[in-house]
Amino acid sequence: MSTTGTDSDAQTAAGLISRSHLGIEPFSLYRADSLTDAASMIASGAWAHAGGIDVAQRLRDGEAAPALVPLCKPGRGSPDGLDLLDEISLGDGVLFIGAAVTHARIETDQLVRAHRPDLADAWRTIGNVRIRSTGTMGGNLMAFDAGYDAAPILAAAGASLIFADADGSQRRCAVADRPRDRLLVGCEIPLAGRIVYDRSLKPVVSVAVGDECVAIGCAYQEVEVLPAGATDPPEVGVALAELPDPIGDAFASAAYRRRMISVLVNRCLQSHIETVGSDEAEETGVSARPTAPASAPSSAEKLRGDTAAPAGRPAKTLPDALAGDAADDSIDIAIRLNGEPFPISAPPSEMLVDTIRTRAGLGGTRVGCDQAVCGACTVLMDDTPTASCSTFAWQTDGREVLTIEASHMAETGAPTADPAATLPIVQWAFAELSAFQCGYCTPGLILTASALLARHRDPDRTTVCDWLDSNICRCTGYLMVIEAVEAAAAALRLESGPAPDETP
Ligand SMILES: Cc1cc2nc3c(=O)[nH]c(=O)nc-3n(C[C@H](O)[C@H](O)[C@H](O)COP(=O)(O)OP(=O)(O)OC[C@H]3O[C@@H](n4cnc5c(N)ncnc54)[C@H](O)[C@@H]3O)c2cc1C
Ligand code: FES
Ligand code: FES
Repeated sequence: MSTTGTDSDAQTAAGLISRSHLGIEPFSLYRADSLTDAASMIASGAWAHAGGIDVAQRLRDGEAAPALVPLCKPGRGSPDGLDLLDEISLGDGVLFIGAAVTHARIETDQLVRAHRPDLADAWRTIGNVRIRSTGTMGGNLMAFDAGYDAAPILAAAGASLIFADADGSQRRCAVADRPRDRLLVGCEIPLAGRIVYDRSLKPVVSVAVGDECVAIGCAYQEVEVLPAGATDPPEVGVALAELPDPIGDAFASAAYRRRMISVLVNRCLQSHIETVGSDEAEETGVSARPTAPASAPSSAEKLRGDTAAPAGRPAKTLPDALAGDAADDSIDIAIRLNGEPFPISAPPSEMLVDTIRTRAGLGGTRVGCDQAVCGACTVLMDDTPTASCSTFAWQTDGREVLTIEASHMAETGAPTADPAATLPIVQWAFAELSAFQCGYCTPGLILTASALLARHRDPDRTTVCDWLDSNICRCTGYLMVIEAVEAAAAALRLESGPAPDETP
């Protein structure tokens, strides 16, 4: 690549400007090296930054953060010292899921699937391919958005949330009692039990029914939990009658919501009874589940070790340097862009889409909604579709970023599991089947399809639609796009033989 991170003026003059960063107040980055550090900073006013999808939106909406504390490296775990946030493990009768574990990992993790397949299935419904690979369990819970799914799912499952405090102590609480501005470390979910989750009426109402609790999402400012589970349907009926008035808004009146809560709860109760019945009939398969090693420390023990404040060392408060105006603070970021090093020095608020368009002068990455919704800005970060409008440039430090301009990389004979290698064939199929009109959405669609075909060489139509429904196209009506992806899959199978090892 001929462009470097420092000669952006000519590219800016060429018109490849993105406004994704405009309106974001400057902020600093604080890299915590322990859970106590992170807890101290957050208690002092810094914002946790996990996947960063909501954080980016809050900042774009005009909120100001004195500093962000990164809790995870998308696709690659958590920073050193914060490893517990990225852990999934078995404890004594519980499954621990760290706060920085992504939606995609909860859906596919072997421990979760073996012990709480109901949770994995419920998590499968969250977001789209970009959101699932970036958004985290903790970010979803701590965004305190009434429409998000993690709260009702975990509340119904009887999860206990674990928070770290600035003084090195920890506290536990139920989902509905979670505090703001505290570091969520993770949650413990009883291994025994099943939930049934129905979000088919979102954004009117969502309902999760577990063995002990019924949880209602979307209908109140915060998840509403009825402490009576599927074991006692009559008691649930009484509790439903005593519920306060739900929200009335543009989606539904309060009266309609109340009616639908009742419909959905009854439907889920019935389904729960049937699910538990069939689980009991299949009990013999349970012995195959992985169990916790006898000597393994529980998550609570690990947490005590990780958060205990060293003797004589007071918990930190937000240092002055971080609280000040950070407008001129640039940080060095080492990206590999389309196969070549692309080192830049950029302010923490620079969005990846700005780096790509304004600094690198690559105009194939488009900006549509600027809210992580439409997919026009999709790039591949370490082979995973990523919304560059909602990813800060520093999140790509040490990562491989591919844009639509990267199709030349396929000519190097890259292995077939490489999305760059699938790009030209997908491009050929889009052209051959006229799968575009104005072309604004096309780079994002082609990159998403390339990532899909690098993982699944023979995807069925449901899988194709599942991956592509996160990329909005206002022109084609999608059928030709879907057919183009299927044609590209067939061509790749002919060219490269059997499918590579499939990863979900
Ligand atoms: C197009 C689109 C579709 C979506 N669809 C769905 C859907 O179907 N269902 C659904 O539930 N959600 C959906 N979402 C929301 C999405 O799941 C959340 O945006 C995401 O989970 C937030 O996770 P994050 O890691 O990016 O959070 P971040 O943006 O990093 O954080 C969110 C908030 O939580 C705080 N925070 C993060 N981690 C911690 C922690 N460990 N301790 C304390 N505070 C913390 C942050 O400071 C911030 O205030 C959708 C979003 C988009 C854009
Ligand atoms: S512009 Fe990034 S998802 Fe729409
Ligand atoms: S081809 Fe025009 S938006 Fe998709």
